[in-house]
Amino acid sequence: MAELSAKDIESIRNRVESLRDEISQHDYAYYVLDSPTIADVDYDELYMELVAYETEHPELVTPESPTQRIGHLSDQPFEEVQHVVPMLSLNNVFSDADVANFDRRVRERTGAEVIVYTVEPKVDGLAITVIYIDGKLTLGATRGDGETGEDVTRNVKTIKSIPLTLRSETPPSLLEARGEVFMSLEGFEALNRRQLENDEKLYVNPRNAAAGSLRQIDPRNTSKRPLDAFFYHIARLEGAEHMTTLDQQHAWLKEIGLKTTPNVQLATGYEACIAEYHKILQSRDSLPFAIDGVVYKVNDLEQQALVGMVTRAPRWAAAHKFPAQERSTIVKGIDVQIGRTGAATPVARLKPVLVGGANVENATLHNMDEIERLDVRIGDKVIIRRAGDVIPEIVSVVKQERPSDSQAFVFPETCPVCSSPLQRDKDQAVIRCTGVLVCPAQAKRSMEHFVSRKAMNIDGLGEKLINQLYENKLALDIADLYKLTREELVALERMADKSADNLLNAIAGSKHPTLQRFLYALGIPQIGEATAASLAATFGSLERVMGASMEALEEVPDIGPVVAQNIVTFFGEDRNRELIRRVLETGVVVKEHAGAVHTRESAVSGKTVVLTGALQTLKRDEAKARLQELGARVTGSVSKNTDFVIVGQDAGAKAKKAQTLGITMMTEAELLELLGMA
Ligand code: IVH
Repeated sequence: MAELSAKDIESIRNRVESLRDEISQHDYAYYVLDSPTIADVDYDELYMELVAYETEHPELVTPESPTQRIGHLSDQPFEEVQHVVPMLSLNNVFSDADVANFDRRVRERTGAEVIVYTVEPKVDGLAITVIYIDGKLTLGATRGDGETGEDVTRNVKTIKSIPLTLRSETPPSLLEARGEVFMSLEGFEALNRRQLENDEKLYVNPRNAAAGSLRQIDPRNTSKRPLDAFFYHIARLEGAEHMTTLDQQHAWLKEIGLKTTPNVQLATGYEACIAEYHKILQSRDSLPFAIDGVVYKVNDLEQQALVGMVTRAPRWAAAHKFPAQERSTIVKGIDVQIGRTGAATPVARLKPVLVGGANVENATLHNMDEIERLDVRIGDKVIIRRAGDVIPEIVSVVKQERPSDSQAFVFPETCPVCSSPLQRDKDQAVIRCTGVLVCPAQAKRSMEHFVSRKAMNIDGLGEKLINQLYENKLALDIADLYKLTREELVALERMADKSADNLLNAIAGSKHPTLQRFLYALGIPQIGEATAASLAATFGSLERVMGASMEALEEVPDIGPVVAQNIVTFFGEDRNRELIRRVLETGVVVKEHAGAVHTRESAVSGKTVVLTGALQTLKRDEAKARLQELGARVTGSVSKNTDFVIVGQDAGAKAKKAQTLGITMMTEAELLELLGMA
């Protein structure tokens, strides 16, 4: 390489710095403000440019570069850290009277007549402290016993919402901020799905998952975990403007790049605090992360100092926990429900009980293995748990109180809805209804999923109406939904003209879904929103996803062999292809995903191809692999769904059949040309 002049180096250095600035700005908008300012592909481009410069000029790498989030690999245990300011815990209040007492003591100690509090969600994660010196992240540590924690800096750095450099031209010389590392409910579920797929242990709740993830020895593992963080407290601050209230501190933290607890409210007097508590409790199930209560804090920092602290907790703050999420009740019966993929899920019918503010009448028992593990029987007294908005579960059985005549549960042998035999999946815990094409339960659940908010988002089509449409044979599957007419709808019981029009509008409005939505809506086993998004981003069009090979699918982030197999199996089934064809025929147009990774188009992309006869140049397997790379589906037998038949030497029955069906035939020479190998 030619020697670079000082001027060249200077200009590279400038470019590197401006790339870092730009990337940090986008990270801040995305992770902290939750409002992205750049398309993913453009972001990736900036990032790759920076990586390229840093690879070429390692001397320009700094620890704060966004490329350094996964820094030096380590197999070392975490070192201990002495907290300069102890990490406190909170005193709890349980009743309205406790809140009134807390407020009374604060008023007595401050001499104020009325106190302004912040009321904030108590996030269910683990406490963290971070230290920035001259604006640079230098330490991240766990709470430990409050005096001594663990230095988990290498893992904290992998959390994208925690900036490596503060956003300020004049950063404080020292900032120690306290907050909570947590995992969103969505992230938690995705992690557990992955754990399940890889045969690894499942985490019981998002808090354990967050704690387990932050304490991974290898930061590469932590970086794959969907961790996030909120900050709520300044423990030490030097070289910054003086602030007088908590809400000012929150605003300042956010401005310099730290994500703060959302939904913080100001409340004057304890009654307003209690009102906010109820509001936050109400919103609990719609929050994307788990909370287990609210925290009241004196907003004025001078007043805080007057109130002081007791041994391990400030007297100016109190945690008001939500009601217990575990209760006991009686199992009245065990039913088996059939889901959209035919999975037969046993459900316990319970004597209704309030858990965490919601009335619970059913709890999932997952599968037969779970029933055996718990040894739950009809008539048993059980402990049930409800976590956030997930379906309530049975934690344990109170065996001492079991009725003496109770009998073990016997799983039915036939589907309770369509009477088809139930069959256990090979090597799996799942028992399925075999009446795929005839089972009304599967058909209705598939439609419900298809129209749901995150799928095609067709408003007004609830469970009841879908049942009605199905029972009246107006919609037996998702394609039928697009053929519904006004006359058919208004003839239904309890269907007003206006509702019929609204529904038809909603259905018409769903006719141009994004590829991601459509893929998710199809209800392919284990394809959630995130996987659907990855598929869309990788393949770009429905055709290409449908024709993708196992190999190509396994290259998609987050897709392992099990999910890849599910996708291939789903699109390999004629009835699914036929259904999709019928949906598209009604005028549904699935938008392509711009900027997909695999955009190489070819005549065979998304097509079904059969190879027959002996090939001269290519081995059969090789031909198959190359066709699959181009997005073709290679199958073994010729049917009316076959698009191309490639005819080698001495081809027999298959070639004949193709001819009869009028399917396009290709010679080996034409195949080689198509593959760019001629
Ligand atoms: S304030 C002096 N605010 O709850 C600051 N804590 O039970 C003391 N927590 O160790 C903590 N959300 O891990 C505070 N908005 C919030 C919180 C919160 C969750 C955790 C924190 C603390 C524990 C005490």
